This record gives sequence, C-alpha cells and structure tokens, in this order.
Amino acid sequence: MSTLLSPARAGTPLTGRAGAAVDALGDRARICDLYDAHGSRVYHDICGRTTQEVPEILAAVRGTDGPVLDLAAGSGRLTFPLLAAGHQVTALELSPDMLALLRAGLTNAPDEVRRRCDSVEADMSDFRLDRRYGVVLLGTTTISLLPDEDRPGLYRCVRDHLAPGGRFLLTTVDVDPAADGTDESEIPVTGARGHGYLMYEQWSPGAATRTVTVLPQPVPADGPVTVATTTIGVLPARQVTAELEAAGFTVVATTPIGQGTGRHHDVLIEAEVRR
Ligand SMILES: C[S@@+](CC[C@H](N)C(=O)[O-])C[C@H]1O[C@@H](n2cnc3c(N)ncnc32)[C@H](O)[C@@H]1O
Repeated sequence: MSTLLSPARAGTPLTGRAGAAVDALGDRARICDLYDAHGSRVYHDICGRTTQEVPEILAAVRGTDGPVLDLAAGSGRLTFPLLAAGHQVTALELSPDMLALLRAGLTNAPDEVRRRCDSVEADMSDFRLDRRYGVVLLGTTTISLLPDEDRPGLYRCVRDHLAPGGRFLLTTVDVDPAADGTDESEIPVTGARGHGYLMYEQWSPGAATRTVTVLPQPVPADGPVTVATTTIGVLPARQVTAELEAAGFTVVATTPIGQGTGRHHDVLIEAEVRR
C-alpha cells in the first residue's frame, strides 16, 4: 500500500545545494510532499498543463476501443487531452488534493465532456473497479513513484482491468548521469501563473532513487516558504520491460519520447496481456 510521502524521503534531511537552500531558510521552510495539500498547488502550477508526452499518448490511444483508465491522473494533465480527443476516461489518483484539482477542472468543462469522465481516489497498486478498459495508461514516468514491493500489485490490477486485446501504456525515464557530469542539477522554471521556481534534481550515479525539490524563486522576503519535494525510483525501460514480461505481459512497442533533456530520456512502453 503506497503512501504519498515516500519512506525514503520522510524525515530525511535534504542534502546538497537543495539542502543548503533549505537550511538558509531556517524555520521559515515548510517542507511538504509534492502531491499533498501544499505541494499539489506547486506541481499543478509548474506541470499541470504542460504537453510533455501528450502527442505520443494520444497517438497510441487513437483507434483503440473502449474507455481509458488514467492511473495516477494527478490534476488531469493527461485526462483532459484524452477527453478532448473524445475518449471516455476514468481518472484514478491517490492524493485527494490532486484529485480535487482535477475535479475542479471538470466543473469548468462542458456537460458533454464531464459526462465522459469519472474519477476515483485509489491506490494504483491495489484497486478494484467494476469495469474493464481498452487502455490503461500510467504516464509521466509515474511508475517510478512505486516502491519495488508495490509494482507486482500494479501489474496485477492492470491485468485484471484490461479488456481482451486491451493495451497497457506506460512511460518511464532513463537517466544518464554522464550527460552533464553532475549529480545535482538546478533548473529555473516559470509556472502557468507566472511564479518563478528553482527545481533541484539530485541523483548520484548508480543510486536507486532521485530526489526532486522545488523552492520559490526569488524566495519571499519573509513568512513561511513552501519547499515541495519527492523521491522517485530510477526505473530504466529495460527493467520495466523485464518486470512486465515476468508479470504476464508482452511488450509490443518501446518508443523514445521527444529529444530528452541530456540527462533524461523518456520512453513509452506499450504492452498487452499474454494470452
Ligand atoms: C508525476 S505526477 C503525474 C500526474 C499526472 N498524470 C500528470 O501527468 O500530471 C504523479 C501522480 O501520482 C500520484 N500517485 C503517487 N502514488 C500513487 C499511487 N500509489 N496510486 C495512485 N496515484 C499515485 C501522485 O499523487 C501524483 O498525482
């Protein structure tokens, strides 16, 4: 059973330049998970409407039959383009705060779109819905949020919810530590509402996890400062493919997504249940 603040992160002090930036804030720092009540607003502002993966996923879903189950749907970054393309979508999400943002987005959608979407608060590694799907989608490299012991549950639930001939579409990221010769990168980002952020990504070569930490930039002169952080497993496509094959799937396609960012190379994996 998954929890939002990963055990690897909870109570662990931040290190490196991210840690120094947080130390400099002293007791003004409010450290939270990237998907909880405070962090979800930061995530949604930075990522909630970006189009990364969207064309590739829409192309892979085009022409499939039946509804789409969007796992770890967050605030609906992939759900809304799927709805706009005419699909029936179930959005499943563990964080009630992320789900609230998705549901708020739905209230602004036309009736016809709202009717094609239902949403459920559940854990993607342990859920039971009374329905089968033409596509089960797990985008945004979110499989890497699940610890090793929870991924068999995910694969079982996906198998149980795919209609005959249905497809499991998932993305993962190959991280290349040699690309910039550092184990901590610092990326300035501007959110949809115009706020600035500094995003730190820490990953030591060979480590099984990487940590992403986001601070406002510039840091406000006074008052509490939200520091949103998440720890993510590093799951190369080769490992995900082997796990899927062992869990009774056949991988039918593996496609690189976009150009990558030097360090990151996203991959779309398409799999079917082996009959
Ligand atoms: C990287 S975000 C992706 C959200 C959305 N798909 C998008 O593209 O913006 C990862 C999401 O996974 C959710 N999540 C984490 N663990 C989960 C679990 N065990 N079951 C369901 N959702 C989970 C988080 O709350 C968060 O909303």
